[in-house]
Amino acid sequence: MSKAVDFDRKKLIQTAMDHIAGAYAPYSGFHVSAALLMSDGRVYTGVNVENASYPAGICAERNAIFHAIAQDKNAKLVAVAIVGGPNGDIKDYCAPCGVCRQVMREFGNPADIRVIMAKSTEDYKEMTLEELLPMSFGPEFLK
Ligand code: THU
Repeated sequence: MSKAVDFDRKKLIQTAMDHIAGAYAPYSGFHVSAALLMSDGRVYTGVNVENASYPAGICAERNAIFHAIAQDKNAKLVAVAIVGGPNGDIKDYCAPCGVCRQVMREFGNPADIRVIMAKSTEDYKEMTLEELLPMSFGPEFLK
Protein backbone atom coordinates (compact mmCIF):
# COMPACT_ATOMS: atom_id res chain seq x y z
CA MET A 1 0.00 0.00 0.00
CA SER A 2 1.20 3.49 -0.72
CA LYS A 3 1.36 6.11 2.01
CA ALA A 4 -0.88 9.15 1.85
CA VAL A 5 1.50 12.02 1.31
CA ASP A 6 0.59 15.48 2.48
CA PHE A 7 2.04 18.32 0.43
CA ASP A 8 0.77 21.25 -1.57
CA ARG A 9 0.08 19.83 -5.03
CA LYS A 10 -1.02 23.15 -6.51
CA LYS A 11 2.15 24.87 -5.34
CA LEU A 12 4.37 22.18 -6.86
CA ILE A 13 2.45 22.36 -10.16
CA GLN A 14 2.68 26.17 -10.14
CA THR A 15 6.44 25.94 -9.60
CA ALA A 16 6.75 23.66 -12.64
CA MET A 17 4.60 26.05 -14.69
CA ASP A 18 6.67 29.05 -13.56
CA HIS A 19 9.83 27.52 -15.02
CA ILE A 20 8.63 26.21 -18.39
CA ALA A 21 9.93 29.30 -20.18
CA GLY A 22 13.43 27.98 -19.44
CA ALA A 23 13.00 24.92 -21.65
CA TYR A 24 15.46 24.73 -24.54
CA ALA A 25 13.65 22.73 -27.21
CA PRO A 26 14.46 24.19 -30.65
CA TYR A 27 14.25 20.78 -32.37
CA SER A 28 11.05 19.21 -31.04
CA GLY A 29 9.37 22.45 -30.04
CA PHE A 30 7.97 20.49 -27.08
CA HIS A 31 8.70 22.29 -23.82
CA VAL A 32 8.67 20.41 -20.52
CA SER A 33 9.15 21.51 -16.93
CA ALA A 34 9.33 19.43 -13.75
CA ALA A 35 9.26 20.42 -10.08
CA LEU A 36 10.39 17.93 -7.45
CA LEU A 37 9.64 17.74 -3.77
CA MET A 38 12.42 15.90 -1.94
CA SER A 39 12.22 14.28 1.50
CA ASP A 40 14.39 17.02 3.01
CA GLY A 41 11.63 19.48 2.06
CA ARG A 42 13.58 21.04 -0.77
CA VAL A 43 12.05 21.76 -4.17
CA TYR A 44 14.06 21.49 -7.38
CA THR A 45 13.11 22.35 -10.91
CA GLY A 46 14.32 21.19 -14.30
CA VAL A 47 13.46 21.74 -17.94
CA ASN A 48 14.27 19.78 -21.07
CA VAL A 49 17.47 20.86 -22.75
CA GLU A 50 17.87 19.60 -26.31
CA ASN A 51 20.99 19.37 -28.45
CA ALA A 52 21.85 19.49 -32.15
CA SER A 53 23.13 15.95 -31.58
CA TYR A 54 19.61 14.80 -30.63
CA PRO A 55 20.38 11.98 -28.15
CA ALA A 56 22.58 14.33 -26.11
CA GLY A 57 19.51 16.24 -24.93
CA ILE A 58 17.92 15.61 -21.57
CA CYS A 59 14.38 15.51 -20.22
CA ALA A 60 13.09 17.97 -17.64
CA GLU A 61 12.56 15.29 -15.00
CA ARG A 62 16.08 13.90 -15.17
CA ASN A 63 17.57 17.36 -15.21
CA ALA A 64 15.74 18.15 -11.97
CA ILE A 65 16.49 14.78 -10.32
CA PHE A 66 20.22 14.87 -11.08
CA HIS A 67 20.45 18.38 -9.69
CA ALA A 68 18.57 17.38 -6.51
CA ILE A 69 20.74 14.31 -5.95
CA ALA A 70 23.91 16.31 -6.53
CA GLN A 71 22.84 18.53 -3.59
CA ASP A 72 21.85 15.64 -1.29
CA LYS A 73 22.32 12.06 -2.38
CA ASN A 74 20.40 10.73 0.63
CA ALA A 75 17.23 12.69 -0.08
CA LYS A 76 14.30 10.68 -1.44
CA LEU A 77 11.92 11.74 -4.15
CA VAL A 78 8.50 12.45 -2.62
CA ALA A 79 6.69 13.92 -5.60
CA VAL A 80 7.24 15.29 -9.06
CA ALA A 81 4.92 17.65 -10.93
CA ILE A 82 5.29 17.67 -14.72
CA VAL A 83 3.90 20.10 -17.28
CA GLY A 84 4.61 20.25 -20.98
CA GLY A 85 3.33 21.08 -24.41
CA PRO A 86 4.16 22.47 -27.85
CA ASN A 87 5.99 25.78 -27.35
CA GLY A 88 5.12 25.60 -23.69
CA ASP A 89 1.40 25.65 -24.38
CA ILE A 90 0.10 23.16 -21.80
CA LYS A 91 -2.93 21.42 -23.30
CA ASP A 92 -2.54 17.79 -22.23
CA TYR A 93 -1.19 15.81 -19.32
CA CYS A 94 2.53 15.23 -19.94
CA ALA A 95 3.56 11.73 -18.89
CA PRO A 96 7.19 11.02 -17.99
CA CYS A 97 9.16 8.95 -20.49
CA GLY A 98 10.33 5.46 -19.62
CA VAL A 99 13.91 6.48 -18.95
CA CYS A 100 12.79 9.17 -16.49
CA ARG A 101 10.51 6.67 -14.73
CA GLN A 102 13.53 4.39 -14.25
CA VAL A 103 15.63 7.27 -12.91
CA MET A 104 12.85 8.16 -10.44
CA ARG A 105 12.86 4.49 -9.36
CA GLU A 106 16.40 4.87 -8.04
CA PHE A 107 15.50 7.51 -5.47
CA GLY A 108 12.52 6.31 -3.43
CA ASN A 109 9.94 3.64 -2.85
CA PRO A 110 7.89 3.34 -6.06
CA ALA A 111 4.69 2.89 -4.06
CA ASP A 112 5.31 6.22 -2.31
CA ILE A 113 6.58 8.46 -5.12
CA ARG A 114 3.76 10.66 -6.47
CA VAL A 115 3.84 11.64 -10.13
CA ILE A 116 1.57 14.57 -10.90
CA MET A 117 0.82 15.20 -14.56
CA ALA A 118 -0.83 18.58 -14.80
CA LYS A 119 -2.75 20.70 -17.28
CA SER A 120 -3.18 23.40 -14.63
CA THR A 121 -3.12 23.74 -10.86
CA GLU A 122 -6.76 22.60 -10.86
CA ASP A 123 -6.60 19.86 -13.45
CA TYR A 124 -4.09 17.09 -12.91
CA LYS A 125 -3.68 13.32 -12.73
CA GLU A 126 -1.78 11.78 -9.85
CA MET A 127 -0.29 8.29 -9.95
CA THR A 128 2.33 6.47 -7.95
CA LEU A 129 5.56 5.54 -9.67
CA GLU A 130 4.64 1.90 -9.07
CA GLU A 131 1.53 2.37 -11.19
CA LEU A 132 3.59 3.96 -13.96
CA LEU A 133 6.46 1.47 -13.75
CA PRO A 134 5.22 -1.85 -12.38
CA MET A 135 7.52 -4.71 -11.37
CA SER A 136 10.58 -2.52 -11.72
CA PHE A 137 14.29 -3.07 -11.25
CA GLY A 138 15.95 -1.06 -8.52
CA PRO A 139 19.05 -0.68 -6.36
CA GLU A 140 18.07 -3.42 -3.89
CA PHE A 141 18.57 -6.04 -6.64
CA LEU A 142 22.28 -5.27 -6.60
CA LYS A 143 22.84 -5.63 -2.85
N1 THU B 1 10.57 15.28 -22.70
C1 THU B 1 10.77 15.57 -21.38
O1 THU B 1 11.46 16.53 -21.04
N2 THU B 1 10.18 14.78 -20.47
C2 THU B 1 9.39 13.71 -20.77
O2 THU B 1 9.08 12.92 -19.89
C3 THU B 1 8.91 13.53 -22.13
C4 THU B 1 9.81 14.15 -23.16
C5 THU B 1 11.24 16.11 -23.71
C6 THU B 1 12.39 15.44 -24.39
C7 THU B 1 12.45 16.22 -25.67
O3 THU B 1 13.24 17.40 -25.44
C8 THU B 1 11.02 16.65 -25.93
O4 THU B 1 10.33 16.47 -24.71
C9 THU B 1 10.34 15.86 -27.02
O5 THU B 1 10.50 14.50 -26.80
